[in-house]
Amino acid sequence: MKKIVVEGGVSLKGEVQISGSKNAVLPIMAATILCPDIYRISRIPDLRDVRTMSSLLEILGARVESKGDTFIIDTRDVNKWEAPYEVVSTMRASVCVLGPLLARFGRAKVSYPGGCVIGTRPIDLHLKGMRMLGAQVSMEDGYVYVKSSHLKGRRIYLGGAFGPTVLGTANVMMAAVKAEGETIIENAACEPEVVDLGNFLVKMGADIKGLGSPTITIRGTCDLRGVDYRVIPDRIEAGTYILAGVITGGEVRVKDVVPAHLSSFLDALSTTGCKIEEGEDWVMAFREGNPLPLQITTLPYPGFPTDLQAQMTVYLTTLPGISIVQERVFPDRFMHVAELLRMGAKIMREGPKAFVMGPTQLIGAPVMASDLRASAALVLAGLKARGKTVINRIYHIDRGYEGIEKKLSLLGAKIRREEE
Ligand code: EPU
Repeated sequence: MKKIVVEGGVSLKGEVQISGSKNAVLPIMAATILCPDIYRISRIPDLRDVRTMSSLLEILGARVESKGDTFIIDTRDVNKWEAPYEVVSTMRASVCVLGPLLARFGRAKVSYPGGCVIGTRPIDLHLKGMRMLGAQVSMEDGYVYVKSSHLKGRRIYLGGAFGPTVLGTANVMMAAVKAEGETIIENAACEPEVVDLGNFLVKMGADIKGLGSPTITIRGTCDLRGVDYRVIPDRIEAGTYILAGVITGGEVRVKDVVPAHLSSFLDALSTTGCKIEEGEDWVMAFREGNPLPLQITTLPYPGFPTDLQAQMTVYLTTLPGISIVQERVFPDRFMHVAELLRMGAKIMREGPKAFVMGPTQLIGAPVMASDLRASAALVLAGLKARGKTVINRIYHIDRGYEGIEKKLSLLGAKIRREEE
């Protein structure tokens, strides 16, 4: 089993190149199923989840060739419509082949994704969307079957108890692209990754209006084609490196980013007394003056992203006073808290809230990564802590951070990967 070892206490300084967005590229790769053709997609990050999506496309009959950060995906011979349990159980995002398979073959069979450490994560809204487009939906042996000889557009309200759904919006949008007539998705997710998928579909020939707003209108067409496309940069990776800088009292400049995608996060940092500088495609943050505690609530975009909550919590341990974190997207996403307590953090959890008392000097310890973002948070905690932190089950981090030890080492961190 691999682990990451971090010797803390070094202020990180310098510039880091941000990779393509994991959560944009996964549905975009799935969308290539929609039309049998050849696609050339660039700025693809080298991640375990991307490799899983490539394998899934290959299982379905596609050919995937990688040349550096560009993938050439040929979906002309896709002839299967089943996403098997073995794949979906390793990556929930596999569920986003549901919409494209249904649109192309009139049927799809996808293993029902189980819960994960960040919550139960149902797909009822995805299925509601498919039903409303005219598909029959049934369940058998842990698989969901969707079937329709004729998808027909209509108005679909896609909100649930926790607000809009990112991959649900992606799935319905992809199915609606080939449905007859007009589909209006209300309470659609506004995340930049959904917009990026929409822009990809528009380049393929889809007629989509309202991307980035809660109302997306799609007019169905059969006139689609393969395209060249460059994926947006990963705002969550960017936020994680900016935090690595401010947590260690250094300054990290992230380059090749879209600063507007980081607005709520940068606003939260500046509320705590950080100075933010930004250009067209870069952002830099550093501490200035007296730091202040913070209250954050995770919300769908443009609110504070749940995918930066764990990493931000580590930063809050360095601020004086009581900071409050409220999780409104995944109310149980606090697995990192117990590990941070082992490193000396003072955090009290109460339902979907965590109260962080600071400042505390974190102390290195062996800790266990529970999921992707919790792993990143533990690496950040290790960078700040006195002494040595050993993060076990580090395979989670390879799902979403390309070359994290290499990038952090370039900023001065003492970090290495070891085999157990
Ligand atoms: N929800 C439902 N029913 C559904 C779908 C979602 O009740 O049918 C609930 C969820 O349980 C949750 C909320 O709605 O409480 C939002 O979930 P959403 O569907 O938006 O999440 P997702 O699409 O499954 C994506 C990202 C996650 C990110 C969330 C929220 C990908 C591959 N995953 O998941 O990313 O946290 O949106 O922004 O895009 C990560 O990268 O670490 C990660 C977990």
